[in-house]
Amino acid sequence: AQPWRGVLEEYREWLPVDEDTPVISLGEGGTPLVHSAWLSSVVQGDVWLKVEGDNPTGSFKDRGMTAAISVAVGEGAKAVVCASTGNTSASMTAYAARAGLTPIVLVPHGKIATGKMAQAVMHGAEVIQVRGGFDECLQLSRALADEYPVALVNSVNPVRLQGQKTAAFEIVDVLGDAPDVHVLPVGNAGNISAYWMGYREYADAGLATHRPRMWGFQAAGAAPLVRGEAVARPETVATAIRIGNPASWQLAIEARDTSGGRIDAVTDEQILDAQRRLGAHDGVFVEPGSAAGVAGLLAAAEAGEVDPGLRIAVTVTGHGLKDVETALSGVESVVDSVIDADVHDAAAAAGLA
Ligand code: F0G
Repeated sequence: AQPWRGVLEEYREWLPVDEDTPVISLGEGGTPLVHSAWLSSVVQGDVWLKVEGDNPTGSFKDRGMTAAISVAVGEGAKAVVCASTGNTSASMTAYAARAGLTPIVLVPHGKIATGKMAQAVMHGAEVIQVRGGFDECLQLSRALADEYPVALVNSVNPVRLQGQKTAAFEIVDVLGDAPDVHVLPVGNAGNISAYWMGYREYADAGLATHRPRMWGFQAAGAAPLVRGEAVARPETVATAIRIGNPASWQLAIEARDTSGGRIDAVTDEQILDAQRRLGAHDGVFVEPGSAAGVAGLLAAAEAGEVDPGLRIAVTVTGHGLKDVETALSGVESVVDSVIDADVHDAAAAAGLA
């Protein structure tokens, strides 16, 4: 079998690139679709996890970034800018490094996970911390791109969503049809819009018999789409989705309504609980923001809102190693026991003897 070639090559005919577009790739996409026995039994259906933390920079952002950076390079860009809660910047800086572009990163001061910050630094970026949240950072990066010679690669750049839609293609390619429901976290609302586009295009082309209902979940302290109005000071432990005024607001509402889906909120407690249970039951370690979809599915199941027998795909968007502080903050002690190197002591400590 041929090795996976990255989403631009694998799905070229579905993407806004031609033979002159340079391909800037890290081999992104082709991520595992892992069956969850635990969630399947909870919802009495068939639940599949799309593990997007397995992308090169540890999140789904790489799918959109290979597309956006390739197109930007083809158009002659020398510098790129993004606002980010951490994953977009980790991804942008990696692809910019490969392309020889100058990366400019605007992040909310003190509100991005250390692992994500380390990624941008290692990829050689100028990281600018802004006194404000993601929404202010995005305004600023739009203004920079308007007034200076830098290309904007946030998901307001339509090429980003084009790249991200390939995750929906992969799910249908593996399952043989679309799932009945697709569940995912929602922040700036680009990804739910991208999946919906991908599912629609595949169904329109006859590659799926139907389109899934889209179920998006926001953090309760950052749930503008649920409340129906922008949130001035969004707060959540899930910093990835700490966003009060999503750029793809209209597209997300359209995805929800035309799919017969829902966008609801989950508390930080539900998010952290889902994160831990996913790690302990399925062996999948995700960052808090990524667990919002699982948290929402669990809440819906508990409320009796999930019909039995459904095939459900859940995107877990980013890797748990990006934010170990939050993961460990709820743990009483990282190390349960300290012993001498003695087999009897080890057996006793492990509960074997
Ligand atoms: N999950 C993770 C891990 C994210 O990093 C993001 C967004 C989302 C979910 C939400 O996706 O914005 O398309 O609705 N992160 C952006 C960033 C905002 O800057 O990395 P969305």
